[in-house]
Amino acid sequence: MKVLVIAGSPHRAGTTALLIERFAQGVAERGGEVTVFRAGEKRIHPCVGCMACRDSDRGCVYADDMEELNPLLRTADVVVFATPLFYFGMSAQLKAVVDRFFAQNDALRGMRKRVVVLAACGDTDTWAFDALRSHFETICRYLHWELIGSCYAQGVYLRADLEKTDYPEQAYRLGRQIAAP
Ligand SMILES: Cc1cc2nc3c(=O)[nH]c(=O)nc-3n(C[C@H](O)[C@H](O)[C@H](O)COP(=O)(O)O)c2cc1C
Repeated sequence: MKVLVIAGSPHRAGTTALLIERFAQGVAERGGEVTVFRAGEKRIHPCVGCMACRDSDRGCVYADDMEELNPLLRTADVVVFATPLFYFGMSAQLKAVVDRFFAQNDALRGMRKRVVVLAACGDTDTWAFDALRSHFETICRYLHWELIGSCYAQGVYLRADLEKTDYPEQAYRLGRQIAAP
């Protein structure tokens, strides 16, 4: 099983990174292959809505690191969206990638991927993740991709906060579960 993690945090060793590490460990233990695409370290031009991708068959006008991601997207069995909560949504780094899906909507909608969400936030309000959850559910509905699992870690501003919780263990178990034969 090929698992592609699109990591939206700018922090290599932050909270989202720890969730990814433990999730990937669980997947690997069940024989899955994990690739992490660190969107925050890539050159991803924001979509400018020029519609050139609609008006021709040449795809997006921007030749950037989406060219590295696209083949990984095509071959992935499971796509993992991993993000810190930034103002009640996904990070701009991840959103830039998702917006660029627009240039290949038809192809992506025919791919029937399975999806996992990993997310972290500082607040403990029960509603803190409502908009993000709803957004990912809507994206999956549109793409005809199946949301098979998630780990939403609350009350964790920093990695040290997360280390004191059960969320990393939850992410690990989720990785094992989705990669189970
Ligand atoms: C720009 C920005 C916006 C944030 N917005 C929220 C928010 O809306 N709600 C919240 O609970 N935490 C918010 N946070 C806190 C982060 O979600 C939290 O610190 C997270 O664990 C950071 O993940 P990382 O270490 O992977 O980058 C925000 C942090 C930043 C830098």
